[in-house]
Amino acid sequence: MTGFLSKNKLQGKVAIVTGGASGIGEATAHHFISHGARAVVIGDIQDEKGRNVAASIGPDRSTYIHCDVAEENQVKSLVESTVSTYGRLDVMFSNAGIGSSDGQTVMDMDMSAFDKVLAVNTRGMAACVKHAARVMKEGGVKGSIICTASVLATRGFYVSTDYVMSKHAVIGLVRSASLQLAGDGIRVNSVSPGMVGTPLTVTRWGVEEEEVEKLVESWSRLKGVLKEKHVADAVSFLASDESEFVTGHDLAVDGGFILKRP
Ligand SMILES: NC(=O)c1ccc[n+]([C@@H]2O[C@H](COP(=O)([O-])OP(=O)(O)OC[C@H]3O[C@@H](n4cnc5c(N)ncnc54)[C@H](O)[C@@H]3O)[C@@H](O)[C@H]2O)c1
Repeated sequence: MTGFLSKNKLQGKVAIVTGGASGIGEATAHHFISHGARAVVIGDIQDEKGRNVAASIGPDRSTYIHCDVAEENQVKSLVESTVSTYGRLDVMFSNAGIGSSDGQTVMDMDMSAFDKVLAVNTRGMAACVKHAARVMKEGGVKGSIICTASVLATRGFYVSTDYVMSKHAVIGLVRSASLQLAGDGIRVNSVSPGMVGTPLTVTRWGVEEEEVEKLVESWSRLKGVLKEKHVADAVSFLASDESEFVTGHDLAVDGGFILKRP
């Protein structure tokens, strides 16, 4: 069988990765290029890190654009400048996200912290899907949009209620958008990672990456530690034509997550 799990599954594609300055987004930006993507545009608010990621990929194939996804006009201009620089948009990896502040149990919810989490993780995600879909449709591109949800998008948790809610909303967005855009050949899916030792989790839990990884290992049915690369593999599959008949799907990348009391 030819083409199955091909190394160049993203040959010639132009992609945006939001939250591409760090963690899962950074790993996926590199992964896209190693699978043959023509260009990856990094949208993030960490300017120095974002520029470094773009520089490490190479100026001919990557650009960094400052974009706060909570600001719709910045998302619109991220998408429009990608199209004006590279001619089209094939893949939107809407991945930027933030964790909860400490606690956030329902009875102790700090509502302004709640608003911030929802503004980035839910509203920002919707703006990315909206503007990516618009340019794909205008350009007649049968594109692929992938959102980062979470294992916490489909279950409750002891803390971080706002984060859990924000990720449940991502699943609703993907389900609705995939129905609405299927007629234009635009696919919308999500990935749901288990816990990965990125700055987001290290900061949230106030522990070293190794400690996060030990916890992750104890939560996984598969032996070993979930890494950014595993998520990037799943995203690359959803971005590519190998998944051309997959839409509205939430792909868990969690080693068979078992939720235990933290
Ligand atoms: N690490 C995990 O365990 C885990 C598990 C499930 C889901 N996720 C999700 O994966 C995604 C990536 O997180 P990560 O773990 O790689 O963390 P990370 O902190 O390494 O990366 C997140 C990136 O998003 C950027 N970002 C934050 N707010 C932004 C904004 N308003 N506009 C643009 N960019 C912004 C950050 O600057 C950072 O570069 C998030 O959506 C997160 O919720 C992470």
